[in-house]
Amino acid sequence: MPENHLTPEHATISPAILYWGTPVVLVSTENEDLSFNIAPISSAWWLGNRCMLGLLSVSHTTKNLLRTKQCVLNLPSDDMTDKVNALARTTGSKEILTATAIEPLYYFKKSNGYQYVKDKFSHANLTPVKSDIVRPARAMECPVQMEGELVGVHEMMQDVEGEVLFAMEIKVLRTHVHENIRKSGTKNRIDTDKWRPMIMSFSELYGLKAKKADESELAEMEEEAYRGFSNPAEVDLM
Ligand SMILES: Cc1cc2nc3c(=O)[nH]c(=O)nc-3n(C[C@H](O)[C@H](O)[C@H](O)COP(=O)(O)O)c2cc1C
Repeated sequence: MPENHLTPEHATISPAILYWGTPVVLVSTENEDLSFNIAPISSAWWLGNRCMLGLLSVSHTTKNLLRTKQCVLNLPSDDMTDKVNALARTTGSKEILTATAIEPLYYFKKSNGYQYVKDKFSHANLTPVKSDIVRPARAMECPVQMEGELVGVHEMMQDVEGEVLFAMEIKVLRTHVHENIRKSGTKNRIDTDKWRPMIMSFSELYGLKAKKADESELAEMEEEAYRGFSNPAEVDLM
């Protein structure tokens, strides 16, 4: 058993959110009428060629993803706050317009000032461009765009009544990056001194510090050692 040390420098608190800091992803999906939706999501983490996304069940993005199994994960850089703020508190779901307290999740959005927006690409001054493999459009202004397919869904919070949250496993099929963040002299690597992801910490938007914190022991490993968990090194241009 650990000893019962006094830690006067720590306070015991109960935060309403636990968003300690994750990247912002603009997820584009296809609507039923074949137009496109795009929404900021920051519950995102990466392993191999997979991204796990945490999504509210009633979001339009969730419904589009479950129906079409396709999306693009567009990563904004930290100077794109105007786009992210334009998309914040919007939804592509019309259901919000008539929501009452009987539908608590839609009502949560409505009572917190969310608006229904049909064309969120235009609303945020983002330019839709055709993807190679999936139907949803990429957002041209984002320096990173990953075409992906939904390969797994886990219902989170099964200990509470009703479907509230889903963890959605996205398999990255193809990655497009802006040339100015590609590491010079390499084909498949990112220059981490140049790539400036946007991070959401609690509900605030941040960039990473301009300088590396330190040399990284893990970075001593060849990046290609991870290839077995990812896509082939050569992009198959079909
Ligand atoms: C920076 C930022 C991060 C967000 N992160 C998430 C998230 O991780 N998961 C989630 O369900 N909603 C998140 N939201 C809220 C969604 O964007 C919101 O539910 C939106 O209405 C979804 O749009 P849609 O209904 O058109 O899919 C975030 C919003 C912002 C502005």
